[in-house]
Amino acid sequence: MEKEIRTIGVLTSGGDAPGMNAAIRAVVRKAIASGKKVMGIEKGYRGLLDEEIYEMSPRDVSDSIQRGGTILRTARCEEFMTEEGQKEGAKICKKHGIDGLVAIGGDGTYRGAQKLASLGINTIGVPATIDLDISSTDYTIGFDTAVNTAMQAIDKVRDTSSSHERCSIIEVMGRNAGYIALWCGVANGAEDILIPEKYGFEEQEIINNIINNRKKGKTHHIIINAEGIGHSTSMARRIEAATGLETRATILGHMQRGGSPTCRDRYYGSMMGAYAVDLLCDGATNRVVSFRNGEWVDFDIDEALAMEKHISEYEYSISKALAI
Ligand code: ADP
Ligand code: F6P
Repeated sequence: MEKEIRTIGVLTSGGDAPGMNAAIRAVVRKAIASGKKVMGIEKGYRGLLDEEIYEMSPRDVSDSIQRGGTILRTARCEEFMTEEGQKEGAKICKKHGIDGLVAIGGDGTYRGAQKLASLGINTIGVPATIDLDISSTDYTIGFDTAVNTAMQAIDKVRDTSSSHERCSIIEVMGRNAGYIALWCGVANGAEDILIPEKYGFEEQEIINNIINNRKKGKTHHIIINAEGIGHSTSMARRIEAATGLETRATILGHMQRGGSPTCRDRYYGSMMGAYAVDLLCDGATNRVVSFRNGEWVDFDIDEALAMEKHISEYEYSISKALAI
């Protein structure tokens, strides 16, 4: 017989993402509306092991949906990667009566949830990362805000780059994935978009491209470089030496992870948090919430972690075609 969940714990883990608060708020309010008690766990698995746990009421999530970051705070926790740490985490959940857990974060967070599920805590993962690099879902909470923040920053760099007739390399986040770079590259009308999934160190091609564009009358050259390739500062130095054009590198960094979430991130965060509670109420465990092909679906965590996701060949080819 499926176990009936009485108390739902909620945590955010790994890198924060705008919209996490909407997901927390949805978990708290949907769970309470479904007759469950909710315990907020601060600082991810770190806070679980440190027992930073408190009961949450619907008022504890008031005034949070429009805020960036996560009101539960987040952390990375080495200790939870060990079997002892995981057993201790499950023991602490049981001690606090937490029989269901919603873990909001990326792939690493899913792996932690998977371990807790194997130790008898019903767990559900909710995808939240600005990187969009979770294979089981078409959307991850935080991506839309991050690309809009980066896009606005890149527009500003473009203004000054044009005035000075410079070349600018702008590095965006994404860990090993190029989604932020691709989307900003297209949206900002970049001349070159470098993503780790496609990059073969063709720097000479970029240099030729810059020289040709200058001959064609382009006054600036914007290169969006993904963090997964990196080395923007040394690349700028080499490009300046080879082209004779003033070249500057700008690394956007953590500003991309902050700020008030867009409507999309608040909406997806709300739906995904509520869906996770519904899954727990139905007795599900070791599942992840996903948005795929326009529908809300869920997968087994093991299956989700084994999935692959690739940059669309079509979208990449269009990004190239539009940069001429
Ligand atoms: P994200 O969830 O954004 O991918 P991380 O990869 O940093 O972020 O993972 C967040 C946390 O999840 C880690 O600090 C760790 O506590 C936990 N975690 C990651 N991988 C595992 C694993 N294999 N087993 C148990 N816990 C893990
Ligand atoms: O996963 C989100 C992310 O912002 C990545 O894009 C980046 O590589 C990483 O986290 C940075 O992590 P930290 O905040 O630990 O510097």
